[in-house]
Amino acid sequence: MADLPRSELMEAVTSLAKRRGIAFQSSEIYGGLRSSWDYGPLGTEIKRNVREQWWRSTVQLRDDVVGLEAAVIMSPKVWEASGHLEVFTDPLVECLNCHQRFRADHLPEPPTCPNCGQTAFTQPKNFHLMFKTNMGPIEEAENTVYLRPETAQGMFVDFATVQQVSRKKIPFGIAQIGRSFRNEITPGNFIFRLREFEQMEMEFFVEPGTDEDWHDFWIEERMRWWTGLGLREEHLRTREHDPDELSHYSKRTVDIEYAFPFTDWGELEGIANRTDFDLKAHQQASGEDLTYFDQEKNERYHPYVIEPAAGVDRAVLAFLLDAYREEEAPTAKGGTEKRTYLALDRRLAPTKVAVLPLSRNEKLAPEARRVFDLVKTDWMCDFDDAGSIGRRYRRQDEVGTPFCVTVDFDSLEDGQVTVRERDSMAQDRLPIDGLVAYLSERL
Ligand code: GAP
Repeated sequence: MADLPRSELMEAVTSLAKRRGIAFQSSEIYGGLRSSWDYGPLGTEIKRNVREQWWRSTVQLRDDVVGLEAAVIMSPKVWEASGHLEVFTDPLVECLNCHQRFRADHLPEPPTCPNCGQTAFTQPKNFHLMFKTNMGPIEEAENTVYLRPETAQGMFVDFATVQQVSRKKIPFGIAQIGRSFRNEITPGNFIFRLREFEQMEMEFFVEPGTDEDWHDFWIEERMRWWTGLGLREEHLRTREHDPDELSHYSKRTVDIEYAFPFTDWGELEGIANRTDFDLKAHQQASGEDLTYFDQEKNERYHPYVIEPAAGVDRAVLAFLLDAYREEEAPTAKGGTEKRTYLALDRRLAPTKVAVLPLSRNEKLAPEARRVFDLVKTDWMCDFDDAGSIGRRYRRQDEVGTPFCVTVDFDSLEDGQVTVRERDSMAQDRLPIDGLVAYLSERL
């Protein structure tokens, strides 16, 4: 098994995603909408699995983190207090020759236009990234609202309520998965940079003075999550933000970066020490008390916040890129042929089991359906009886299905099926009665 050259990998993965309907242009029948993508049936499952794994490790397996689903449209006062209205901008420049617009900090050094190669640009202008819309029927400035550019603010403005109802003591965290919106100047690279995307964020509230240790803890913890789900260590690194790159709320930020093939390293997740910036800002603007009362110490303080913030879409892209494999595999006729497969972690695979009757035959169909009914209650399964068995294996390999279960004519006699594993292509023959236990052990 060899990895594809980096220059070909992105094209191979986007074309697989399109061909198999994992993700494709939104509004395609109208020519598409730039930077908007729809996830098809398999992409939807992969996203669900990514969210599920994040929620499991961040919330379910911990007793110090609780969940939240805040509204996308929040009071505009939130964005005023958080500083986003004032500073959530990117530097925009326009090429003086072709008039295309770019983010100044994304241009090559020395700056040349990625479109026409010229070197003259306008002076950078601050371009605001929040999407504006209007609440209610009257379009007036006082009805302006914003689509949230990060989910985090929900956790800050609801801090006191969530702390009270969950009766959590510091240190504790509030986690949320949801859509965020940014009017990016240069979206692109498939689902890497979008204007509508999904974030998995957790605000972990700690006692001031313990924040730096907790920051290191969460950097390690999050790195373990990515490698634990199969991203290769050599494709990941952490990168410290330079002081001039830090967000307005951050004391220190460390990015977890992935070796995306279209850039040397690209951000997968940011882990920031937001200090007490947000709670203090919201207390000042709202007049509500957002301190925490530490009963043991008999003192009140504004907790510091450590924030691991990852993107679902970027996660999906990284997992697909890392899992993509092409190899020469033996054929039934004794030759070899190219086999494409996604070596996805089984927890992320969109379909866990495919049930394949050896051929489309009315004697085989009822038994194959019975096997399908047996496994579908535990896992996302597929039933496929179209085409040769070799072609069906290849179709499943290509989308990372870990196990194919073949029902053949012998199955009708001996009550056994053949289970084929995706990566090794090794086959086991086993009784249908033991199938669920066999798969449970491995999934
Ligand atoms: N609350 C902190 C925050 O939002 P961020 O580094 O701007 O921090 C966190 O965003 C993560 O969200 C990023 O690491 C990335 O995975 C994802 N993300 C941010 N902007 C994105 C975009 N335009 N398209 C896709 N994902 C994005």
